[in-house]
Amino acid sequence: MKNLLFVNACVNRGTSRTYRLARELVALLEGSDDFDTREVTLEEEGLQPLTSVTLNRRAALAADGVFSDPVFRHARQAREADVIVMAAPYWDMGFPALLKVYIEAVSIPGIVYRYGEKGPTGLCRATKLYYVTTRGGFIDDARDLGFATVTELGKLYGIKEVKCISLNGLDIPADNLESVIRGVIAGLPARL
Ligand SMILES: Cc1cc2nc3c(=O)[nH]c(=O)nc-3n(C[C@H](O)[C@H](O)[C@H](O)COP(=O)(O)O)c2cc1C
Repeated sequence: MKNLLFVNACVNRGTSRTYRLARELVALLEGSDDFDTREVTLEEEGLQPLTSVTLNRRAALAADGVFSDPVFRHARQAREADVIVMAAPYWDMGFPALLKVYIEAVSIPGIVYRYGEKGPTGLCRATKLYYVTTRGGFIDDARDLGFATVTELGKLYGIKEVKCISLNGLDIPADNLESVIRGVIAGLPARL
């Protein structure tokens, strides 16, 4: 059985278009292979931005090799995932702070990557990371700072392929929004 990690940075999940799209993708993936899915709902995780105290405590644990501490749980979980789906609405040119705080919890040298003489080497098992986002306006995936950040992190962590599944223009009044969303969902199987 493979591990599917679903990192959910959506809010108002009952109405979130990003969450809807991501759940459709996760359901498709689950139908395509033997996956054990773990969904991490970031707004329920209680994660906090790193401070002097928490960063120094974490660094001391890492220096002693105490990676069993709960502070490393998200990093360990990310390293063991075979496929990762990240769902984040497009906010202020990138992703919500909730996802940045999660990334701070995951980016641990010694767990998801290691430094060597020739620079960092990724330690994550995942071969694919899907970044799912929806946007109120129109912007190319390449200019979405959230996707750009996740693409670079994927390289650092050793994840071969980072794909963006996106939908633009959702806050522009239109009569056909529902059919546009359904169209993107219908096209998902071709993008796995
Ligand atoms: C705090 C906040 C910031 C946003 N920033 C942008 C932005 O910079 N550009 C944009 O096109 N849309 C922006 N939007 C609109 C969202 O991208 C859009 O409504 C998106 O579809 C929300 O996804 P959701 O339905 O999953 O919540 C913003 C929305 C919020 C609530």
